[in-house]
Amino acid sequence: MKTKIAVFVSGGGTNLQALIDAQGTVLVSGEIVLVVSNNADAYALERAKKAGIPTEVVLKKVCGSQAAFEEKLKQILCAHGIEVIILAGFMTILTESFTACYPRRILNVHPSLIPSFCGAGFYGLRVHQAALEYGVKVTGATVHFVNEIPDGGEIIAQKAVYIEPGDTPEILQRRVMEQAEWILLPQAAETVCASMKEETK
Ligand code: GAR
Repeated sequence: MKTKIAVFVSGGGTNLQALIDAQGTVLVSGEIVLVVSNNADAYALERAKKAGIPTEVVLKKVCGSQAAFEEKLKQILCAHGIEVIILAGFMTILTESFTACYPRRILNVHPSLIPSFCGAGFYGLRVHQAALEYGVKVTGATVHFVNEIPDGGEIIAQKAVYIEPGDTPEILQRRVMEQAEWILLPQAAETVCASMKEETK
């Protein structure tokens, strides 16, 4: 039996696409059975539909509070028998009431080499902007387990990417995705799903 994965998204979903494309080759111990978005307009939802993966949209505004939002997420995950959650460009913080329910079962991809340019306020293009403003010559991506500390959970994998003259946040974002995120995330998902199968043997 494959490990049941839910991917949480908010935007374009290129990392979701990388996971979908890796199924059957890199990602063999787990299967994406659900995509959850906190944004009804996320293009990632289209990607899921094209791949025939069920989707759910959960809006914090509609739920009324962070606690109700997280309860709703838990209900949905439970109903689908989800074992592993992958945050792939999921742009909202999850509190301890949620993360404590899935210890070492939630993965996140972050577009820098943690502990640089991470934590509250560092997401998406802002991360690359901060790296360029600081003047670092090497950046990269990190896949880590998620706990109650934003970007603070145990690191699973990292890959370095060089900054080049003339980089803008957009150019750098694309290079970090191509050279690091889209490769690391499916590999890390496989590692975690395979280790879960070992545990249940
Ligand atoms: C990715 O670069 C991901 O690492 C980043 O947002 C982008 C989402 O792109 N996530 C964070 O910054 C989380 N702190 P995508 O929707 O095309 O996968």
